[in-house]
Amino acid sequence: MGLVPTMGYLHAGHLSLVEAARRDETFVVVSIFVNPTQFGPHEDYERYPRDTAGDLQRCEEAGVELVFMPAVTDMYPPDATTTVHVAGLTETLCGPCRPGHFDGVATVVTKLLNIVQPDRAYFGRKDAQQLAVIRRMTRDLNLPVEIVGCPLIREPDGLAMSSRNAMLSADERQRALSLYRSLCQARERIQSGERNAAAVIEQMRRIVAAADPARSDYISVVDPDTMQPVERIERPVLVALAVCFGSTRLIDNMLVDPGGQNA
Ligand code: PAF
Repeated sequence: MGLVPTMGYLHAGHLSLVEAARRDETFVVVSIFVNPTQFGPHEDYERYPRDTAGDLQRCEEAGVELVFMPAVTDMYPPDATTTVHVAGLTETLCGPCRPGHFDGVATVVTKLLNIVQPDRAYFGRKDAQQLAVIRRMTRDLNLPVEIVGCPLIREPDGLAMSSRNAMLSADERQRALSLYRSLCQARERIQSGERNAAAVIEQMRRIVAAADPARSDYISVVDPDTMQPVERIERPVLVALAVCFGSTRLIDNMLVDPGGQNA
């Protein structure tokens, strides 16, 4: 059995996880649960897009065997007091910007894995830090599940697919292309020999700033295993950023091998 955990408003990125699961498994479960504990008090839990009928139809068309769609009260009894905290990996990138976020993710994923008991669970690499946190958590807690990381899926113009893209105005969506543009520039620069992470970040910062974002939470070059900042780029690095357009926060990333060829 394979589990694809989601918060719904399913798009082609989610469906690629379902496809990966269908290649491996005979029984595919999709969970749809907008998890309140991974949103901060001033974040977009209420605004997060929801489309139950559309999601169920997409799951049926994709050949999903079972959709698990619990209510908040099913997942969190009012007197629940246990959370799962993964230290270290959660202290960079999205961790400091979204206090409590990864505790909410780790706790809900543990619960979903315990309830569904899949052999494998599928997560997208767009949430690279989340994937690292979930891998570490399942290893540390000996959870009997294999975590499968799947490729980040982009729109034809490069925007990373995300349910939050639906919250962007047409103008914000256009400006949001700066995330992908900055990542491509970073890759080109690193693969042309730049080894100084600060120089790569500065160039990305200029590209993103030109698109006039409401806020830029971080632009970082980190070790893909530890999520710790890298100064000299000698090995493959994860280039990652989180930027807000209007009140919509977008994340994106690219794994860049300094020894790779420039396309
Ligand atoms: O990536 C998501 O959609 C969520 O963080 C997850 C893994 C379903 C947990 O709520």
